[in-house]
Amino acid sequence: MTKVIALANQKGGVGKTTTALNLAAGLLRHNQSVLLIDLDPQSNATSGSGVDKEDITNDAYDVLIANKTAKSAIIHRSDNFDILPSSTELAGAEIELTKKKDRQTLLKRKIAKEKTNYDFVLIDNPPALGLLSLNSLTAADSVLIPVQAEYFALEGLAQLMKTIDLVKEHGNSGLTIEGILMTMTTHTKISRQVVAEVEKHFPEKTYEITIPRNVRLTEAPSFGQSIFDFAGFSSGARAYNKLVKEIISENGKEDSKPS
Ligand SMILES: Nc1ncnc2c1ncn2[C@@H]1O[C@H](COP(=O)(O)OP(=O)(O)OP(=O)(O)O)[C@@H](O)[C@H]1O
Ligand SMILES: [Mg+2]
Repeated sequence: MTKVIALANQKGGVGKTTTALNLAAGLLRHNQSVLLIDLDPQSNATSGSGVDKEDITNDAYDVLIANKTAKSAIIHRSDNFDILPSSTELAGAEIELTKKKDRQTLLKRKIAKEKTNYDFVLIDNPPALGLLSLNSLTAADSVLIPVQAEYFALEGLAQLMKTIDLVKEHGNSGLTIEGILMTMTTHTKISRQVVAEVEKHFPEKTYEITIPRNVRLTEAPSFGQSIFDFAGFSSGARAYNKLVKEIISENGKEDSKPS
């Protein structure tokens, strides 16, 4: 069974794309097949996975708005790893989607056939709760919420949870929360307090694993590399590997690389 996980938080710069890219790379290392869908017009997941603009025929905009198939847009990156790229054009999709009758269920329908080819489908989202994110949440089985360990972390989480509940009521009753992932944690008191606060509010949902602030995670995408290839022994790589193993085991997948 394919597991579709949306990475979402309407707050910007919390680690959605960093998590999407490294989760994808980590799952591959554990022999899972992955489709990464970039639904953010900023296209950071597309460029961060080393896709050249010249290699893109169709992108997420063409799939959602111009009636192209998902298959026509999917780029094969390596064994077991495909990406459905984004482009800046996708920014226009937010408005164009409003004109469509199936504006919230389009992505779900478009990837229904293709997704069965993979163990995991990861969807990276823009920092907004617009129609693109709603399409992701409707197409997803679960949502993974990266939360930056800083003072205003909880702000916005309530709204995101409300949106998730709305999507559950309208169109995707099976949607679950994969987990809340605290990112960019440090050894400061404030960072520890924020993690504790989020755990207090969402005790069942918050991962024990946290992703530390690690400059290697910032550097890796500019080389089109995952943290595992770029700095395999860094604190960031160790943390993401733990997350990968947890997600594989929680989803009942077989982990053929017990490291
Ligand atoms: N654990 C970390 N340690 C250090 N830097 C990090 C970490 N996680 C992410 N970053 C950096 O923080 C910035 C924001 O991260 P990222 O792009 O993953 O967030 P995002 O939620 O996808 O942002 P947006 O909402 O704009 O799409 C990037 O420069 C990234 O390299
Ligand atoms: Mg991003």
